[in-house]
Amino acid sequence: MLQLSPVIAGCMKWGQWGVKYSTAQYLQLIEECIAANITSFDHADIYGDYTVEEEFGNALKQKPRLRQQMQLITKCGIRRLTPNRPEHKIHSYDTSREHIILSVEKSLKNLNTDYIDLLFIHRPDPLMNPAEIAEAFSQLKNDGKVLHFGVSNFTPSQMDMMVTAFNVEYNQLEVSVLHLDPFHDGSLDKCIEHAIRPMSWGPLGSGKLYSDDGDERNIRILAVANLLAERYHAAVDQILLAFLFKHPSGIIPVIGSTKIERLKTAYASAKINIEREEWFMLWRASKGHEIP
Ligand SMILES: NC(=O)c1ccc[n+]([C@@H]2O[C@H](COP(=O)([O-])OP(=O)(O)OC[C@H]3O[C@@H](n4cnc5c(N)ncnc54)[C@H](OP(=O)(O)O)[C@@H]3O)[C@@H](O)[C@H]2O)c1
Repeated sequence: MLQLSPVIAGCMKWGQWGVKYSTAQYLQLIEECIAANITSFDHADIYGDYTVEEEFGNALKQKPRLRQQMQLITKCGIRRLTPNRPEHKIHSYDTSREHIILSVEKSLKNLNTDYIDLLFIHRPDPLMNPAEIAEAFSQLKNDGKVLHFGVSNFTPSQMDMMVTAFNVEYNQLEVSVLHLDPFHDGSLDKCIEHAIRPMSWGPLGSGKLYSDDGDERNIRILAVANLLAERYHAAVDQILLAFLFKHPSGIIPVIGSTKIERLKTAYASAKINIEREEWFMLWRASKGHEIP
């Protein structure tokens, strides 16, 4: 079983799609995360329009020994329309054996590593063939290039289909107090049924909660989160994460913050165990009505 840190550092906004860190800043954040026991880093080939993996890899090149202290996660299967990939004529998905293997080869080179700890199929592809994906995964595993495999944004029936072909260890889903669907659309039930560990992307609502745009739902959620934050001598972010940690499926949050202080705060939330009634206060605030 893969050992990941209790919260994962999401790298999506470290580069062009966010704060545009320099190599020195990447290195600093990587080292600060590891020092704070946040050792797992979440990538995708496409982040920063195919640039973030390479920027992260350039930082690793400066201190190659850091690689042994971390787990690298990446994804494949989306072909973005961008000047960085002129061969892509349309935004599309590709889960062919050829694409998966080629994408991993590029990720290995960009990340400056010999192996990836965990590879995801980024989004369900209407044309995906589980047997073909399994073939690619098995080749990558046999070659020692990828150690573990998962899916991302897959529905319950898609999870059922994939487990017939290979060992699906994780499903990375959008789930948070602001996005409750996986709690009742069968996604988390299916994770428990198949022993698939869920990861949450957007665990803090992708920053939307803090937008201050007068959204009534945000105001309701923040009111409850603030109340609980006071009760637990915690930060609002920690209460939102404690909501996820409470679920029996063992949700691992992928934190999108680019700031070490917020990442450390997130790490410390793993020890907060809110009461059931408090969990339902957050649920009610999000839904805007009582449970049936
Ligand atoms: N599998 C998928 O399809 C998929 C999709 C999207 C994302 N992901 C992964 O999931 C990770 C996290 O996603 P996310 O970025 O949507 O997650 P998130 O952790 O919910 O949101 C992060 C955003 O919230 C802001 N934020 C956090 N705390 C804040 C606070 N107290 N006040 C104001 N702003 C605050 C952060 O800004 P600062 O940087 O300023 O802290 C950042 O912009 C990504 O990095 C990526 O690795 C996966």
